[in-house]
Amino acid sequence: MTIWAQKKRRGFTIMDKKTIVKKINSLRKQKNAIILAHNYQIPEIQDIADFVGDSLDLAKKATKTDAENIIFCGVDFMAESAKILNPEKNVILPDSSAKCPMAAMVDVESLTWKKEDHPDAEVVAYINTTADVKAISDICCTSSNGAKVVNSMKAHEIIFVPDINLGSYIQRFVKDKKMILWQGMCATHHNIKKEEILNLKEDHPDAEIIVHPECRPEIIDLADDALSTNGMINYCKKSTSKEFIIGTEKDMCYRLQKENPNKIFIPVESAVCPNMKKNTLEKVLNSLETLEPKTKLSDEIMQKAYLPLQRMMNIGRGD
Ligand code: 13P
Ligand code: SF4
Repeated sequence: MTIWAQKKRRGFTIMDKKTIVKKINSLRKQKNAIILAHNYQIPEIQDIADFVGDSLDLAKKATKTDAENIIFCGVDFMAESAKILNPEKNVILPDSSAKCPMAAMVDVESLTWKKEDHPDAEVVAYINTTADVKAISDICCTSSNGAKVVNSMKAHEIIFVPDINLGSYIQRFVKDKKMILWQGMCATHHNIKKEEILNLKEDHPDAEIIVHPECRPEIIDLADDALSTNGMINYCKKSTSKEFIIGTEKDMCYRLQKENPNKIFIPVESAVCPNMKKNTLEKVLNSLETLEPKTKLSDEIMQKAYLPLQRMMNIGRGD
């Protein structure tokens, strides 16, 4: 049970939001901590974060900070990546049960078999993988640089894990590579239906359709572009359009709307990532008070997973 839950049980007064934010602000200074938040975090967390971004920019930010403690508001693989890139820092995921189900769709044993079946292939692991899967991969990628990463590989055959949708999207841009696709997927994106997008388009005929490449190919085909979450921020800022249908986790629209008050962002209401919603302001405060729960990985896994992540960091963004 978290300290916060224990306090609640013992009848301590439940703090209002303003008091929690005040405490967070004073503790982050006292504890030399930085709060990083993914674009899918609840609005209250996005509002207090020192930096909000996509998985690549958050990983980059984690390597650039002088803070000793990184409160990482996202899911497990993001906190693990920050830890691998900064082994000397404390990386704290406010709710340790916030795990990406897609990352759990590939494991070391099955990937090892696949590598044995394709001895000449190189492995590209989406950053949405566990640290031990990264440790047996050649390079990582995110949704912002998948094609750039695959094109940088020497091998003709590429085993791509775990997202079949992102993998088949990348295949469109890397015609001379043979991509061997894993069968994983993100339910939040995979379940977005063509009819949902078409209905929104009927109500907003002038809106551009921007989707995440974790969506199914038939959704990507309907869209004006498929982009990482920070790619969406940059695209919508530059575009002269006034309305956008956003095919990704619905809280993405919070940041888009905040940064573009004169434009209209239409979310797909069904697209919710329950794990991203597990972090709360109370849990962030608890993390700052206790510096727990820390992300812990063995030295061996951290050393092995560092290389594929660092290779990806050297390649940078592709969108
Ligand atoms: P981004 O890197 O585009 O933010 O995507 C992360 C993710 O988990 C999407 O579901
Ligand atoms: Fe994982 Fe999908 Fe949630 Fe992203 S939206 S963290 S891929 S489950």
